[in-house]
Amino acid sequence: MPAGTTPQSVGPAAGLPQRPGVLTPVAKTVGVTEAGGAVDRPFHLRGRSTSPGPSAPAQSRFARRPRSLTGIATLSTPDLADVLSRARRMLAALERSGGRPLAPAPLAGRRIVTLFYENSTRTAQSFHVAAHLLGAAAFDLPVARSSVQKGESLRDTLRTCEALGFDAVILRHPVTGAAAYAAAVLGVPVINAGDGTGEHPTQALLDALTILRHKGRLAGLKVAIVGDVRHSRVARSNALLLARLGAEVWLCGPPGLLPAAPPCPGVTITPCLDEALDAADVVMALRIQRERLAGVLPDLGEYRRGWGIGPRQLERARPDAILMHPGPVNRGIELDPAVMDDPRCVVEDQVRCGVAARMAVLEWALRPVRPEGAKDEPAGGEDGPAGDEDEPSGSGAAERLVADERAAEAPWAAAGQRAESHRAEAGGVAVAPPECAAGARRPVVANGR
Ligand code: NCD
Repeated sequence: MPAGTTPQSVGPAAGLPQRPGVLTPVAKTVGVTEAGGAVDRPFHLRGRSTSPGPSAPAQSRFARRPRSLTGIATLSTPDLADVLSRARRMLAALERSGGRPLAPAPLAGRRIVTLFYENSTRTAQSFHVAAHLLGAAAFDLPVARSSVQKGESLRDTLRTCEALGFDAVILRHPVTGAAAYAAAVLGVPVINAGDGTGEHPTQALLDALTILRHKGRLAGLKVAIVGDVRHSRVARSNALLLARLGAEVWLCGPPGLLPAAPPCPGVTITPCLDEALDAADVVMALRIQRERLAGVLPDLGEYRRGWGIGPRQLERARPDAILMHPGPVNRGIELDPAVMDDPRCVVEDQVRCGVAARMAVLEWALRPVRPEGAKDEPAGGEDGPAGDEDEPSGSGAAERLVADERAAEAPWAAAGQRAESHRAEAGGVAVAPPECAAGARRPVVANGR
């Protein structure tokens, strides 16, 4: 791990903000020191202006801040609908063109940089491919061969990126809250590519896109997220996003790897795998976060026997269920190799959708005018109150927006119909509730649903 960084875990995840579009401090967020390390205290920011705290006066409706994406929790409902809509159009365009760059190039002349303090294959490369397809130039700042190794602080590294003329910084960092810190010290958009155990918003967006592609809808689906939930930023961002769009989310794993409380309404926590998988439409396995489990790594054989997904476990889900995993997969632990070859396994499709979702996020952040003649927005992102005033907030609004868009796009609607008829052919699949393993706790359900 690069010098000056310390992985941290946090306590219970924060719920959805009361008002979408307003930065909400994450409960027990770990601070980032000037050296990029972590301290157990709130951020203390120096230099550039920062986002308003809860008691700060509301910003002007027309205040323009860069459109950063630091988490699903802080993404306003109109912005969420905007990004998802762009993502679907990007995917359709890529499928039509066989993956050729968009013409005319929407981000011609723009430069982005990936600044990754943790390893990555899919996320980093898909941002590079996405930038290329949009006509932007993508650079990587190789942290392991950079001045970070000479002790340069996160803040100074970020500010150097801005001084070099990058139009956006894509940041992955082991400290929870690092992306929000970066967004506060930079005058260009920051995209969170994973911050410790905090959030991984573009993963959740690509997962939502993958589910929409296969199921045609999100509302009403049962999504079982299984594994090391406690340390997974993927689980947290997905739970926040999918529950907000009306899915019924189940978080499941060994009791020691489950969070103390659901992150938001619409989310149920259970250690009982059978219960989570019963009649699930989507099964999402998570990687064991070895790097965040120092000293508390579970027995992997025990984990595999209790929470690994193989053909027998998948039988509990609906016959037309899809099997997801953010990757990289520990083959034979989280997923039995047999199910990775099953046609229901959509792991590689997630990677394809990842390119489209990241194209959408880059375009949204760097070219905020709504395409196809839609009116411009005075401001957007976390500090943009415009959407809050224009659109009703809450899951109903997001659901309606997504549903309207789906209705407007035939291939997506057709995909939904196919999924429905498949389900009808399968006879609805009512699997009797199983007996939970002895000692399993009762599920914890968030209030509100
Ligand atoms: C995830 C990550 O890094 O958070 N991977 C990814 O982005 N494809 C999940 C993981 O590494 O477990």
